[in-house]
Amino acid sequence: MSEDAAVLARACGHAAAYLEGLDTRSVATTASLDELRRRLDVGLRAKGTRAETVIDELVAATAGGHLGSAGGRFFAWVIGGALPSALAADWLASTWDVNATMYACGPAAAVTEEIAGEWVKEALDLPHGASFAFTTGCQLAHMTCLAAARHALLARVGWDVEQDGLTGAPPIRVLATEQRHGSIERALRFLGLGTRSLEALATGPDGRLGPEVLREALARGGGPTILVLDAADLNIGACDPFAELIPMARAAGAWVHVDGAFGLWARASRDHRHLVDGVELADSWATDAHKWLNTPQDNGIAIVRDRAAHRAAMTLTAHYLVAGGEARDAIDWTPDWTRRARGYAVYAALRELGRDGLAAMIDGCCRHAAALASGIGELAGAELVAAPTLNQGLVRFLAPHGATAADHDAFTDTMITAINLEGTAFFSGTLWQGRRAMRISVVNWRTCDEDVRASVAAVERVLARLRSQPAV
Ligand SMILES: Cc1ncc(COP(=O)(O)O)c(C=O)c1O
Repeated sequence: MSEDAAVLARACGHAAAYLEGLDTRSVATTASLDELRRRLDVGLRAKGTRAETVIDELVAATAGGHLGSAGGRFFAWVIGGALPSALAADWLASTWDVNATMYACGPAAAVTEEIAGEWVKEALDLPHGASFAFTTGCQLAHMTCLAAARHALLARVGWDVEQDGLTGAPPIRVLATEQRHGSIERALRFLGLGTRSLEALATGPDGRLGPEVLREALARGGGPTILVLDAADLNIGACDPFAELIPMARAAGAWVHVDGAFGLWARASRDHRHLVDGVELADSWATDAHKWLNTPQDNGIAIVRDRAAHRAAMTLTAHYLVAGGEARDAIDWTPDWTRRARGYAVYAALRELGRDGLAAMIDGCCRHAAALASGIGELAGAELVAAPTLNQGLVRFLAPHGATAADHDAFTDTMITAINLEGTAFFSGTLWQGRRAMRISVVNWRTCDEDVRASVAAVERVLARLRSQPAV
């Protein structure tokens, strides 16, 4: 066996063992920061180490240092697992190791990406003529979409932002809801628009932006305007009423961008698609394949209705580059110069699932989120704060020995830490309408009924233990 084959076989064995252990290992990490540093810092030695040894020792040194987000009982943040074919295709992308920004560097990667992008638009039922880009994640998908918005809005008032920059340019207003994700602010920073360009719009108790609030905001000021809407927010999965809001904003000349990091995939669902009706009317959409499509991490997607604006914001020429001609060059659409071939994992995931499988996966996650939220919310000493309308829900825990809101907040955080430490399931906390809550997010294809049952049982055990402890 060649050294290449030997080391890959070892990595394959380690990977299979890791995946097989997902159900039995602690979802939380078990290795401490000090331990990981001590194990991994073997010193940069003068002499190299055999490839197989490097891999074996890397696996041993990182043991207990991986959060089990690849498994079915991880419900924190919004992370997502990896479908088998998507994981394997991602390995192959590393093996083929082409620079996927140009057809000339990787013809198969370019064509796969071209097809995968078309399939994504089809699966999400977004405009056929829209352009797309595969980015590292939703953060850079926002940046890509908003760069196109910046180009188009300033071009309309006679300003060439790519040539002249922003100094002296007409200001761009950015309207975004108070539920927006922090990656919107960061995209504004990257683009030189600055976070002060942002006006936060109040949402209702359901977390959605109402038409009256938007009407007033649009009337308050004119000039180049971007409106950012959510599909869906990260706490309760609230989706703005797109069909009402988008025509209003577009009639006022605004560019409407949708943060659809995970919620945009509701377009592919049978039971939840109505939550994102009208989202297709927007100008741009940012989403992730690495969340709800379940490709490995490092896979975001930007989709832009105005192809010309998208291309103008991203394209470049250099004397040594070879343009693809008829073929698609990703460099015209993405902020990267060199990048991995992300299209393979998206292509594989969509082929493995098919349209029916994708719908079933999305609806299955929503069903599991509902079961977790109601199962935990019904436990003695727990409270359902927000039942999922999509895949996100909130619960909180009630302190046994104190009646104040602050006591319940503190007890909720204590519970989250204790549940995670117990190892069966993993959740994260949040602040919702001024109160601490535990978030339940289900975006992993592996989550099954047994995961839900085991997770609710684990929460019940921890809750009973903590509530029976004497007050201090
Ligand atoms: C609603 C929302 N938008 C954007 C992002 C940023 O996505 P990414 O981490 O892929 O850059 C996240 C991440 O969790 C999110 O939940």
